[in-house]
Amino acid sequence: MSSQGGSSVSLSGDVAFVTGAASGIGYALSRKLVELGVKVVMVDVNEEGCSDMAREFNRGTETVAIAVKANTCSWDEQFAAYERGVKAFGRIDYFFANAGISERQWLPTFDPSTASSRPITKPALTTLEVDLIGQLYTAALALQVFERQEVNRHGFRGKLLLTASIYSYFTCSTMPMYTASKAGILHFMRSAAKLYEGKGVTVNSVAPNLLATNIGSKEAFKVFEARGLLRTPMDLVVRQFISVLGDSKDNGRAISINDEEVWDHPVDMTRWEENSKCCDMMEYMTGIRTGYWKWREDA
Ligand SMILES: NC(=O)c1ccc[n+]([C@@H]2O[C@H](COP(=O)([O-])OP(=O)(O)OC[C@H]3O[C@@H](n4cnc5c(N)ncnc54)[C@H](O)[C@@H]3O)[C@@H](O)[C@H]2O)c1
Repeated sequence: MSSQGGSSVSLSGDVAFVTGAASGIGYALSRKLVELGVKVVMVDVNEEGCSDMAREFNRGTETVAIAVKANTCSWDEQFAAYERGVKAFGRIDYFFANAGISERQWLPTFDPSTASSRPITKPALTTLEVDLIGQLYTAALALQVFERQEVNRHGFRGKLLLTASIYSYFTCSTMPMYTASKAGILHFMRSAAKLYEGKGVTVNSVAPNLLATNIGSKEAFKVFEARGLLRTPMDLVVRQFISVLGDSKDNGRAISINDEEVWDHPVDMTRWEENSKCCDMMEYMTGIRTGYWKWREDA
């Protein structure tokens, strides 16, 4: 499913929808896209930050970026942001599901000595809402928009990119919600890439190790920096996103970056032979039940 041809064409004139565009990866990505002549719909819950960034990009005579306030956890707000984007730029070629936050505590700290005096409480799923549901809303928007628009000059209806993380593959005992979200994004990406294969749609993810952004405090990043643990360059990360745009046929890639090293994280094939017959049949049966198979030539 994945190839590594990359894009060989100019992206100038294409249009991107970037969530979390006011800061960090989303901002760096938006800046690079504008540099390459791509128009950008910059979506963020931080209205002021996002407007400042768009203003910075719009210094010339042409409007190359618009800032739209939206909380990605709200389907209605994301949909409205898309409508603003289409009104401004005509269509969206690339959706970047990027907005995210760090771990928020979901359960009270484990303490059997006081537990019986405390009520059992509903978990706080804020991390999951932003990092998983919010990104899936962007994906749902992208896939339905692509379904409704004609192929562009590169031969694609559109491309979806999701910001994963090395925590899509590795666990962290103190970040159960972040790791659950990022692992979910990875599996969604691989499933969607397979389902939409050959339909003028590609789905890929970029999964960096730690970068000093506003996702964490300056003090926390200093601790990593002092130990030489903050060496993944932002521009290398941005280049990975850019590499699968345009006429690139790459699909289903989990492009991962640690320090200067970039690799495609492999699918875990442990015990696949024993499990595959059941999994393949499950895929087929679920396809019939849900109606997905209607789309498949090999149904
Ligand atoms: N920084 C890292 O080390 C790192 C590593 C791997 C993956 N990531 C992922 O990269 C993505 C971007 O993170 P970043 O490091 O650039 O962080 P950041 O805090 O610098 O930027 C995130 C942006 O998303 C926005 N945002 C947060 N919640 C939102 C919501 N509900 N609706 C709309 N906008 C929202 C914030 O306002 C902010 O502008 C996240 O998905 C994060 O999990 C970050």
